[in-house]
Amino acid sequence: MGVVSATPVTYEHPLAYLLGLEGVALLRAFTGEFDRDFVESRIAEVRRLLDDESLASAAVEVDRVETVEGYRVWSRTYDDAFNGAFELDEPVVGQIVDALPTGVAVDAACGTGRYTAMLTERGHRVIGVDNSPDMLRRARERVPTGEFLLGDLHRLPMADGEADLVVCALALTHVPVLDPVLEEFARVLRPGGHLVISDVHPERVLRGSIPSVRGPDGRPGRVSTHRHLVGDYLRAALPVGLRLRRCEEPRPPAASPSLPPATERTDRAVGPWELWPWCLADLVPEASRAAHAGVPTMIIWHFQSAGA
Ligand SMILES: C[S@@+](CC[C@H](N)C(=O)[O-])C[C@H]1O[C@@H](n2cnc3c(N)ncnc32)[C@H](O)[C@@H]1O
Repeated sequence: MGVVSATPVTYEHPLAYLLGLEGVALLRAFTGEFDRDFVESRIAEVRRLLDDESLASAAVEVDRVETVEGYRVWSRTYDDAFNGAFELDEPVVGQIVDALPTGVAVDAACGTGRYTAMLTERGHRVIGVDNSPDMLRRARERVPTGEFLLGDLHRLPMADGEADLVVCALALTHVPVLDPVLEEFARVLRPGGHLVISDVHPERVLRGSIPSVRGPDGRPGRVSTHRHLVGDYLRAALPVGLRLRRCEEPRPPAASPSLPPATERTDRAVGPWELWPWCLADLVPEASRAAHAGVPTMIIWHFQSAGA
């Protein structure tokens, strides 16, 4: 076993990712989803990958970057680049929110104000909270009438029972343990208030859906990200008096840009590290399609505080 250093560093070896995809595809074949030809193609492809010299020496050591630093960098481009998660969570979150009365809404970990804007348009008085000053700066530009506070998900700057609605999107994957944050959401909700969570699905985190950022010195880093099991959300929510109203696990439609490209690449280059793991997946399109088929991208929860 390798020595674990004090500063967490991930050893990202392209071959490890590619063999992992082949492995997931083969597991699915082993349980009956694919036929003999598919299995033999996978095993032949594994042999080719193992013999590929260009992959053997392309590993990268990647720092783990805390969220405030990570989003300082990402805040510059967060709203510019295509993000497949937005088109998957917005219809579901919008549908849930549209059925609720307007009131005081907290956009917890509001980032650049994506949901602050949506809730404001729907007539809520919205308080956006985030621990990244850089993301908050963007949010203030986007929603000049909004109220934005620097704060942490573990200690929201609000009184008990102040909120009719808490929305928290794409942020819980960054907290190591859900329980204290769900307890905090329950604290600020009035009895009968609503909580809507959208998060990266644990199956996607497992397949490498973790934001990449370059440090000031150009070193590769990934924003600190955790994989919460579906049951982890329930085990955190139910004991603090949050009742389950709805759970959705949207997945991208076939051939959506949210999926790794399904085209055969003629070159074997590993591509730029920033685009890992998706451009790596492009090297083994059949295995990638099989490993990702039907796998949800997002998980969306609607809870209601007890006591309505
Ligand atoms: C992927 S962005 C999502 C932003 C926005 N909710 C959206 O859906 O577009 C994640 C946000 O969570 C924030 N965040 C992460 N951990 C946090 C914490 N412990 N307390 C407050 N904000 C946090 C980050 O600063 C970042 O703005």
